[in-house]
Amino acid sequence: MKRLALGILGSGKGSNCRAILESIRSGELPAEVRVVISDVLEAPILEIAREFSVANAYLPPGEFRTRLEPKSEMELVRMLRDAGVELVILAGFMRVLKAPMLEAFPRRILNIHPSLLPKYPGLEAWKQALAAGDKITGCTVHCVDERIDHGDIIAQSEVPILPNDTPETLHARIQIAEHALYPAAIAELCRSEEAH
Ligand code: GAR
Repeated sequence: MKRLALGILGSGKGSNCRAILESIRSGELPAEVRVVISDVLEAPILEIAREFSVANAYLPPGEFRTRLEPKSEMELVRMLRDAGVELVILAGFMRVLKAPMLEAFPRRILNIHPSLLPKYPGLEAWKQALAAGDKITGCTVHCVDERIDHGDIIAQSEVPILPNDTPETLHARIQIAEHALYPAAIAELCRSEEAH
C-alpha cells in the first residue's frame, strides 16, 4: 500500500503525535511522518519527533496569539512542501490556520478535537461538556476549514462522562480514545486513496 507522507503540527505534549508514530512503527498505519513542526520552542512534541528520529522544526509564530503571522504561515507552507508532505495532521496545534495553508493544502488538513463536534468547539472542550452536565462526550477527527474546530467530520468516538469525573480524569479518558481514533482515521484515508 502507498505510504502517505504526513506532516504533523502541534503546540504541546504531543501524545497524539506519539500514537501516530507508534501506529506507523507497528505497521498498522501505512504512512510516514516527514516532519513535525511546532510553534512552541520547548514543546514536548518536538522531543517525541527526535525520539522517533523524525525531522522536526520550531516555527516562530510571530506577534499574534491565536494565529500565525502571514509571513510565518507562508514559511510553514514552504517547510511542508519541501518535506513532500501530502497530508497535514494537526495534533494539538493551537493556532487557527488561514488562507496560505488552506489554499496550499485544500481538504488535506485534518484536526482532532476533544468533543463530539459540532458540540463544544474551542478551548478545553471537555470542561464545556462537564459543565453542561452531559453524560457522553468524545472526540472528532475532521477536515480543517476556515472556522475553528469546524469542517467535514471524518470519524468520531464516544466517551462516557462518569459521576466523579474531574476535568483531568475526563480529558485523560478522551485522550485514550483520541489515540485509537486518529491513527485509525488516517489509515482509513490511506486505504480509500489506494482504492482510487
Ligand atoms: C488533544 O486533546 C486535542 O484533541 C486537543 O488538544 C489536545 C492535544 O494533546 N485539540 C484541540 O482542542 C483543538 N481545538 P496532545 O498534544 O497530547 O496530542
